[in-house]
Amino acid sequence: MLDRIDALREELTDVTLTTLDEAEDFRITYLGQRSGIITNLFKKIGQVAPADRPTVGKQLNALKQRAEAIHQEAVDRLEQAAGPAAPDVDLTLPGRTPRVGSVHPLAQTLHDITRLFERFGFAVAEGPEIEDDWHNFTALNFPPEHPARDMQDTFFVEPPEGPRNGVVLRTHTSPVQIRVMENTAPPVRIIAPGRVYRNEAISYKSFCLFHQVEGLYVDEGVTLGDLKHILRTFAEAFFGADVQMRFRPSYFPFTEPSAEVDIWWADPEHPDGGRWMEILGSGMVHPNVLEAVGADPERYTGYAFGMGVERIAMLRYGIDDIRTFYENDVRFLQQF
Ligand code: PHE
Repeated sequence: MLDRIDALREELTDVTLTTLDEAEDFRITYLGQRSGIITNLFKKIGQVAPADRPTVGKQLNALKQRAEAIHQEAVDRLEQAAGPAAPDVDLTLPGRTPRVGSVHPLAQTLHDITRLFERFGFAVAEGPEIEDDWHNFTALNFPPEHPARDMQDTFFVEPPEGPRNGVVLRTHTSPVQIRVMENTAPPVRIIAPGRVYRNEAISYKSFCLFHQVEGLYVDEGVTLGDLKHILRTFAEAFFGADVQMRFRPSYFPFTEPSAEVDIWWADPEHPDGGRWMEILGSGMVHPNVLEAVGADPERYTGYAFGMGVERIAMLRYGIDDIRTFYENDVRFLQQF
């Protein structure tokens, strides 16, 4: 056995490994688990006379370590020589342009409306989207039985007959009028952009949530002429000097008189060459509303308006279905 070990030690001094395949063959030949030459010698150690076993075992271990070292040195050396694995990329390909997002058309429209009114001297106010009955309805002169309080239009957070007397997702931005006037004595001149909710049948022009920009100007001597002037100035600035608009008498509990504004949407495919699109409600602040917030209706008058941002964006960009704003279809969004 010792002779055999000596012979193998001698043999190992001559080994030269020049490829990774050769290194692997070497490992299998000498150290392979099943029939490596050195491995096999370990299996035969039981046949050695007990007195010799310590010496033989020691030498065999040394031989094994020697073989392992030779193998490891060769693998290290050869892998190093091969260099890092060739990168799996074609460096001549043109780069991929990172995709840049765009501002959502509603956000853009909301922003532009807000900026215009800031230039006209309006401050920006905000209110909560979850409102109580007082701010959303009662202070705005909605009679107790008014149909807009009905389940059909309003999403209730707390039922109207419940202990909290109705908590709602605000159905319009008009409650911000109340919140501002409760805290600020006239003169006030604000706009309130924000999101509103209505439990309505969904169609090309109505969705269960949408955005409004509320406007409110209360001071001594504010007139209906002032209201018409600011809305015409807005429409011309937004849609161009040739915009066609009309004031149509209307009704809101919190304004008297009240008017809605329509914008002409020219459309050659339409039988009439286009159609009127309602974009806002407006009017002179009702004396009951001023009273509800503690402003003297004998002294102050004011106008208010609430415009539908989706409708304005539809006109601006020629979009014929309000639902596309909420689908987040990238093909739609990419166009802006
Ligand atoms: N709040 C009304 C609506 O949502 C719009 C409006 C605002 C009308 C202010 C008059 C004055 O339809």
